[in-house]
Amino acid sequence: MKFSLHAKDLSSKARAGELETAHGTIQTPIFMPVGTAGSVKAVHQRELKEDIRAQIILGNTYHLYLRPGLDILAKAGGLHRFINWDRPILTDSGGYQVYSLASTGRKINDEGVAFKSHIDGATHFFSPEKAIDIQRTIGADIIMAFDECTPYPCEYGYARKSMDLTHQWLDRCCKRFDETTGHYGFSQTLFPIVQGSTFKDLRTDSARRIADAGREGNAIGGLSVGEPAEVMYELTEVVCDILPADKPRYLMGVGTPANILECIALGVDMFDCVMPTRNARNGMLFTTEGIINIRNEKWNADFSPIDPNLPGYVSGYYTKAYLRHLVKAGEMLGAQIASIQNLSFYLWLVTTAREKIIDGSFSEWKTSILPTLMRRL
Ligand code: GUN
Repeated sequence: MKFSLHAKDLSSKARAGELETAHGTIQTPIFMPVGTAGSVKAVHQRELKEDIRAQIILGNTYHLYLRPGLDILAKAGGLHRFINWDRPILTDSGGYQVYSLASTGRKINDEGVAFKSHIDGATHFFSPEKAIDIQRTIGADIIMAFDECTPYPCEYGYARKSMDLTHQWLDRCCKRFDETTGHYGFSQTLFPIVQGSTFKDLRTDSARRIADAGREGNAIGGLSVGEPAEVMYELTEVVCDILPADKPRYLMGVGTPANILECIALGVDMFDCVMPTRNARNGMLFTTEGIINIRNEKWNADFSPIDPNLPGYVSGYYTKAYLRHLVKAGEMLGAQIASIQNLSFYLWLVTTAREKIIDGSFSEWKTSILPTLMRRL
């Protein structure tokens, strides 16, 4: 994997770069649609490519391991082939999902985590080595270290212990990763994850430790878990200032359009979040004109396009009144159209941010556009 920086904003820490992977080049800053179980919910792969222009998608070790399972993924020749997606994929390690989805009956010790499947209640065990082995079998281009994501709020003592454990696990992840090779003839890369909850000194220690691991890219975890946005920004800045500038920085699970622009300004290059797809399924639309609750009566007879400023077919062709009808009637097509709209918007947001970084107007653009993007129509 190769990362090159093409431009830096002069009045913030925003950067525009390119990340070369075995499945193609990603232009940063980038947003990665979440495709948890081998599917970006309600959106199929041709739409992801042609309408949304996704450059990379995310998969989840936890879900894919439970279903369809490693046998099937190996027989298919890896996740790319299984889902018919030839662009880059990143997989999360399971560290987060084990805590968020399998919280009852979960037991953590130095060795790893025992958890119960949210599907059938069966007990499984993930260790750092196993998380790497599974991600080798899935075959993502970028794989994540196995970590513990602390909840918010979190006591200092627990946050320190947990962070130390994440660091020990990182050593084991790196060892296993370096002793093994990709299964499908292309190379993979491993990103470690900074933890440390909301404590600046812990975040500083963790960022130094993660930087010292010397991997090709680095991630920031444990944020956007309920803390105020200002706290997230402060800690993201502390960490970004320590992580090496010549490697991509990935902020996990973030966030709203405002969160993304603010964190691009702090030097983050990669984002993922379920918000555009999950909120779409509840009728919340992100558009270049503001946020819409499409279930609202006011859109009943509004025959204007969903978002006239976006280039895609869905945004410019279907009307708000039609989408409202579909969503109110519980039609599956409603969730599909809303999900494509929201992901198209998120990709537009990061692509435009990149253009503005390159032409030197990112900070002014961010200040001028944010009130529009976050207003409720
Ligand atoms: N997704 C969002 N936050 C996190 C985190 O802290 N760790 C992992 N592994 N995934 C995440």
